[in-house]
Amino acid sequence: MECQQWPEPVIRVQALAQSGLDKIPERFVKPESVRPMVNQKKSDTNDDDINIPLIDLKGLTEEEAARQVGEACREWGFFQVVNHGVRKELMKKAREVWREFFMQPLEEKEKYANSPTTYEGYGSRLGVKKGAVLDWSDYFFLHYLPLSLRNHSKWPSLPPSLRKVIDEYGEEVVKLGGRMLKLLSMNLGLQEDFLLKSFGGDLEEGLGACLRVNYYPSCPQPDLTLGLSSHSDPGGMTILLPDDHVSGLQVRQADDWITIKPVPNAFIINMGDQIQVLSNAIFKSIEHRVIVNSNKDRVSLAFFYNPKSDLLIQPAKELVTEDRPSLYPPMTFDEYRLYIRTKGPSGKSQVDSLNSSSSSNKSSS
Ligand code: OGA
Ligand code: NI
Repeated sequence: MECQQWPEPVIRVQALAQSGLDKIPERFVKPESVRPMVNQKKSDTNDDDINIPLIDLKGLTEEEAARQVGEACREWGFFQVVNHGVRKELMKKAREVWREFFMQPLEEKEKYANSPTTYEGYGSRLGVKKGAVLDWSDYFFLHYLPLSLRNHSKWPSLPPSLRKVIDEYGEEVVKLGGRMLKLLSMNLGLQEDFLLKSFGGDLEEGLGACLRVNYYPSCPQPDLTLGLSSHSDPGGMTILLPDDHVSGLQVRQADDWITIKPVPNAFIINMGDQIQVLSNAIFKSIEHRVIVNSNKDRVSLAFFYNPKSDLLIQPAKELVTEDRPSLYPPMTFDEYRLYIRTKGPSGKSQVDSLNSSSSSNKSSS
């Protein structure tokens, strides 16, 4: 059973940051081994400028687009994309309405306070483990699809344009997600609608889609904490609209953390655990985290494009061979996401634990 309430009184990080403290409370201090400066490669200060692939969809044939997207997802599980078809004005408005939402007085936001039962609404923690070290962020989580779960009364009523902007924004982002599933299916050598169908996208009330808007306040001691702890995304695919004036998202590459430098008007797309499972680990769901800084706040919109929550997800049978046996047992996304909702962000421990032969499972603590 999911917990009905948070295990401790909720701390709104934005309000805490605004109180002007010069030391962060103990609850936010991470163990030394996971603090931001450990093993950090700063791509923005590095001469050979390591960054995730950038894909420009303009003028590419389907085959070429599938090759580039597939390659990025095999090697990195992450890429940036421009000329993706989502209107720039909508991207700008979407950022603006959410920034406005978070700038409102606390009382207005508290009307939407969430609980761990559904996570819908205004929240400040992920996971219900009592005594957990907390992340330096607040968020707003809402359901976009299926339509039966889209409930405008659970979305902020202010600013007044928010609901309409997010309806329109979601529509274009869902289209982009569908296009990506097609390119990924092609790259796997499968029918181009394979992934869409596996996600239930061909059914009435099929696909799932949620939006998590993250608000990372500036932080007096950014070296001691994280905006969002290391995790992989449990769902299908994440289409992230990063802040346009400050970076913060880091991707794990072996033992290093690479800071992504957002390209203007780009989305950052990454594979979630369900695509890793469906592709029998050909596409990788990579660990990532968010760092904060001392003088700038940051807003990001993570759009999670997910399978219908009660379909069984398992490796495509075409991708299971004698040489490459099925790495994961069938499971619904509903069952799967209980883990992160209970434990909070914990690296890649969940998807790895499903795979009985994985090395991280053998050595898991
Ligand atoms: C997430 C996430 C990254 C960011 O919400 O799952 O990884 O840059 N967000 O906010
Ligand atoms: Ni994430």
